[in-house]
Amino acid sequence: MKITTNLQWMEADFIEASKFFENTEDLEISHTHFEEATVVFDTVDVLGKCFEFSKDIGNVEGIEKKRYVKRYAKLALYKALSSVLGQKLIWGAMTGIRPVKYAYSLGKNWREEMAEEMLVDESKLDIVGRIIEEQKGIYELKNDNCDFFVSIPFCPSRCLYCSFLSNEIGKEKQLDGYIDALVKEIENAKPLIKNLRSVYVGGGTPVSLPLHLLEKVLKAIGKVDCEYTVEAGRPDVIERETLQLLQKYGVTRICVNPQTFNDKTLKIIGRKHTAEDIYKKFELAKEFGFSVNMDLIAGLTGESFDDFKYSIDKAVELNPDNITVHTLSLKKGSKLKETTERLAEGEISKMIDYSVYKLINNGYNPYYMYRQKYMAGNLENTGYTKKGKACIYNIDVMEEISDNLACGANAVTKKLILSENRIERYGAPKDIKTYIEKVDKIIEEKNKFFLDNTL
Ligand SMILES: C[S@@+](CC[C@H](N)C(=O)[O-])C[C@H]1O[C@@H](n2cnc3c(N)ncnc32)[C@H](O)[C@@H]1O
Ligand code: SF4
Repeated sequence: MKITTNLQWMEADFIEASKFFENTEDLEISHTHFEEATVVFDTVDVLGKCFEFSKDIGNVEGIEKKRYVKRYAKLALYKALSSVLGQKLIWGAMTGIRPVKYAYSLGKNWREEMAEEMLVDESKLDIVGRIIEEQKGIYELKNDNCDFFVSIPFCPSRCLYCSFLSNEIGKEKQLDGYIDALVKEIENAKPLIKNLRSVYVGGGTPVSLPLHLLEKVLKAIGKVDCEYTVEAGRPDVIERETLQLLQKYGVTRICVNPQTFNDKTLKIIGRKHTAEDIYKKFELAKEFGFSVNMDLIAGLTGESFDDFKYSIDKAVELNPDNITVHTLSLKKGSKLKETTERLAEGEISKMIDYSVYKLINNGYNPYYMYRQKYMAGNLENTGYTKKGKACIYNIDVMEEISDNLACGANAVTKKLILSENRIERYGAPKDIKTYIEKVDKIIEEKNKFFLDNTL
C-alpha cells in the first residue's frame, strides 16, 4: 500500500489506521487536506473513487486544532477504505493505545462520539462503558497523586513471546551492583512523594531475585499504607519463603501468571513450569491472603480456540481477584517475532469474545484496557476484576491520571502537568551496566525533573 498526503506529519497515523484492512498490498491512496474558515476538508482517492468529507471544527487553536485535524483525516481514510474494500474494523478509525482515556477526554457524550466519529463497534463501547463504571471511586485527578514503580528486569529464563526488558538472572554478573544502585535510587525518590496511591514492583520477575536481595529492595521501599503489588509472575519461582517475605513487608497483591493452562504450550513458549505448578502456587498465595492477579494470553503459538477457552475456564474456576487477558503482540525484541506467523485474526477475535462473555458472566468486570502496536487482530488487553478489587496502579497508569515515580533500569518517570493537560517523561537507561554507572546522575536529574515539572 502506498499513501501520499499533503499532511506529511500524518503519514504514520495513516499507516496505523489502515494496516488492519485486508488485501491492501497493491492499493495506492491519495489524501488531500484543506481548510476554509473553521471547516476542514479531506479528500481521499482510492481505486479510482474519490471520497470527500468536511467538518466544522469551530474556533480551535494549537494542539486542540491539530487533534481535530488528525481525527477527521483518519476518519476520512477509514471511511474511504471501508467503503472500497467492504470491510469494517472493530475499533473503527481509532488507533490510540488508551481507548478509555480517550473516552474520558470526550466528556459525557463519549459513547455517541466514539460511535459516530470513530465508528467504534458497539461491543467495544460496551466494555469501555463498563470500565468507566468500575473505575468510579478510584479515578481521581488531583495534583501530587503519585504511584511508585520499581523495576526488576530479571527472569529465570526468557519466554519466547516476551518483548519486555528481561535479563536471565543466572547469567547476570552485576546483580548485587544493580540492587545496590536501585536501593539508592529508591531511598532518594521516596521523599519526593506527597500522596502515594500505590506501589508496584514489576519486571521481569521480581521474585526470581535471591531472597536477601529481594529483602533489600522491600526494606528500601519500607512500610506503605496503600495497595502494594509485587509481580511475582512465574509459578516456578514462587516459594513459601518468598511469600512470607512479601507478607512481612506489607505487600497486598501479587501476580501468579499462567499465560496458559496447557502444558504443551507452556513448554513451547519456554515457561519452565506446568499447569500443576500454577494450581499449587495459587493455593499458596491464597493461604497468605494476597489479592491475586492472573495473566493470560490469547493467540499463543499452536493454541486453538478450545485451548484458550480451557485456560479461561480454568482461571475462572480458581476465582482470583483479577484476571488480565492479553492479546499476543509480536513486538521487536521477542524471540517469537522472527520465527512464527500469528494465528488467523478471526480465531483470536473469537478468543477475546469468549473471554468477555465468560468473565462477565462469572462476576468479573473489565476495569482497564489498553491496545498495543503489533497486536494480533487489532484487538486489546483487558484487566478484569471481582467487585471492589480493581488494581489502582493499573487504572492510574492506563488512564494517566497520576504521577508515576519510577526507579530502576528502563523505568520511565511521568509527571502530569494538569493545568496544561500534558505529561513530561524521564527515562532511565535500559542497560544494566550503564544504569549502575550512571545512578547518581539519574537520581540528580530525575529529582530535578520531578520537582521542576509541577502544576
Ligand atoms: C511485564 S510481563 C511480566 C510477567 C511475569 N514476568 C510473568 O512472566 O509471569 C507482564 C505480562 O505481559 C504479558 N506479555 C508479555 N509479552 C507479551 C506479548 N508479546 N504479547 C502479549 N502479552 C504479553 C504477559 O501476560 C505477562 O504476564
Ligand atoms: S513473560 Fe515474564 S518471565 Fe517471561 S521473559 Fe517476559 S517478563 Fe520474563
